[in-house]
Amino acid sequence: MTRLDNRQIDQLRPINIKLGVVKSADGSCYLEWGRNIVIATVHGPKPMFPKHLADSTKAVIDYRYRMAPFSVSDRKNPVPGKRDKEISLVSGFALEKAIDLEQFPNTVIDINSIILSADAGTRAAALTAASLACADAGLPMKGLVSAVASGRANGEFVLDLTKDEEDTFDAVDTAIGVLMPQNEIVLMQMDGFVNQKDWKKIISVGVKGAEKVYELQKKAILEKYPLEGDLQ
Ligand code: CDP
Repeated sequence: MTRLDNRQIDQLRPINIKLGVVKSADGSCYLEWGRNIVIATVHGPKPMFPKHLADSTKAVIDYRYRMAPFSVSDRKNPVPGKRDKEISLVSGFALEKAIDLEQFPNTVIDINSIILSADAGTRAAALTAASLACADAGLPMKGLVSAVASGRANGEFVLDLTKDEEDTFDAVDTAIGVLMPQNEIVLMQMDGFVNQKDWKKIISVGVKGAEKVYELQKKAILEKYPLEGDLQ
């Protein structure tokens, strides 16, 4: 069974990743994922201002997910709405799991993901790019967050839904972030209605998809930072 865009049900859209594209940032990542385009940047760790927001035991992550006004055909209001704030908050929690924050007390790490072009699955693409930008910044990483959407469209359990698939009559759309290689789910959000049996199938499709995303993330890191000698 193939899909509206002729993919197999467990096939990701084409993903293209490049690290270090924003030279003024400490770390950055450009990511194309089907018709999604994301740029993620990292600035910090740097001293937290105002100081009362600092944590004396660890760095604070300030993650912001934003869609550019031109990222969709109906102009997106650039003022962050409830959706942007919720995505930022829960994705920030996921990123906290991936970084050894205890090394940088009283600091803040600013992480920004801007969606330049959107075609569903943007929070997963943004989180995937953000975790790579953190690695590019040389932050001490416990792992990478590999994120992807899975769900149901036209009666099939599918990986990485497009906007057309999200708009089908029976659509269920789940965003999953997995801390890799630990294989720990650190983000899960869902739109739609589903029974427990189908839910388990959707999660299983998503977790397998996240493993594929992880392989592409590792490849992108090795492209910029090739291993030498025995480590290769
Ligand atoms: O992008 P993601 O699937 O993570 O989030 P969503 O809230 O399920 O949105 C799905 C898609 O709807 C986005 O990727 C955009 O293509 C579109 N969208 C839009 O056109 N205008 C918005 N204000 C929000 C989303």
